[in-house]
Amino acid sequence: MDKTRILILGGTREARRLAAELAKRDDLDILLSLAGRTETPVRQPVPVRIGGFGGAQGLADFLTAERYDLLIDATHPFAERISANAAAAAARSGVAAIVLVRPEWVPEPGDHWHIVSDIPAAIAALGPAPRRVFLATGRQGAHHAEVAPQHFYLVRSVDPVEPPLLLTDVAYVLDRGPFTLEGEIELMRKHRIDAVVTKNSGGSAAYAKIEAARLLGAKLIVIARAPAVAMTSVETVEAALEAIDHLLSSPMKRGV
Ligand SMILES: NC(=O)c1ccc[n+]([C@@H]2O[C@H](COP(=O)([O-])OP(=O)(O)OC[C@H]3O[C@@H](n4cnc5c(N)ncnc54)[C@H](OP(=O)(O)O)[C@@H]3O)[C@@H](O)[C@H]2O)c1
Repeated sequence: MDKTRILILGGTREARRLAAELAKRDDLDILLSLAGRTETPVRQPVPVRIGGFGGAQGLADFLTAERYDLLIDATHPFAERISANAAAAAARSGVAAIVLVRPEWVPEPGDHWHIVSDIPAAIAALGPAPRRVFLATGRQGAHHAEVAPQHFYLVRSVDPVEPPLLLTDVAYVLDRGPFTLEGEIELMRKHRIDAVVTKNSGGSAAYAKIEAARLLGAKLIVIARAPAVAMTSVETVEAALEAIDHLLSSPMKRGV
């Protein structure tokens, strides 16, 4: 019997966990796709391909040529282009698709989040007076801080910010989550942080900076997600496994 072919668009912990679960089944043929942004990617439990597809049509052509039965978009909630491409490619190729996206973080009672739409708006929201800012949004987009050189920035990313920012008052920390509350508090105290800029990424691995900002009374600027794409969506790996089982038990396979 032909194996069911599943393409997972990854770059997240959830994609890796889902791939590991699906790899246990011998009726499935799994390929995990990564953009190739990270210089030292973590080991993956299934075969991997790296690099873009050349837009939505490229992805649609790939799905058709490689006879995929199911596409799972398990990319990061802020990887908006690939998610839009995934939705368009699924529609064009007729391949069934599921989005796996973590729920958003929500403010707790008493939290005062300053919610903005992107990194430039977050930098503007810091205001004119010099602040000590933890820019916890990764290396992509960190250069937007250059328009507000009056602030000190602590920039955290997995890989170095290249080229370095054109700022004099900046410190870099290279690290990959999960992050602990104790660690975040220590880091923020060490750099006397009074404002934190974060994406609303969701999940537990990166939430500690929000708790730390709350405990230390730092201003919290949260970049909101773009509206979700119109595709069947689940929030957890377990729900994705159920949705996949459901799809596989229905006549979704190409040619059936
Ligand atoms: N944005 C974040 O904050 C963030 C955080 C953690 C991890 N990530 C991961 O890093 C990757 C890149 O993020 P991004 O924000 O640069 O994405 P993006 O802006 O949505 O994607 C830009 C282009 O990169 C290619 N691409 C992205 N993800 C891919 C994948 N899984 N497999 C193959 N090609 C992919 C696509 O190229 P083509 O159009 O040529 O196909 C896409 O059009 C994503 O896969 C995401 O899961 C992102």
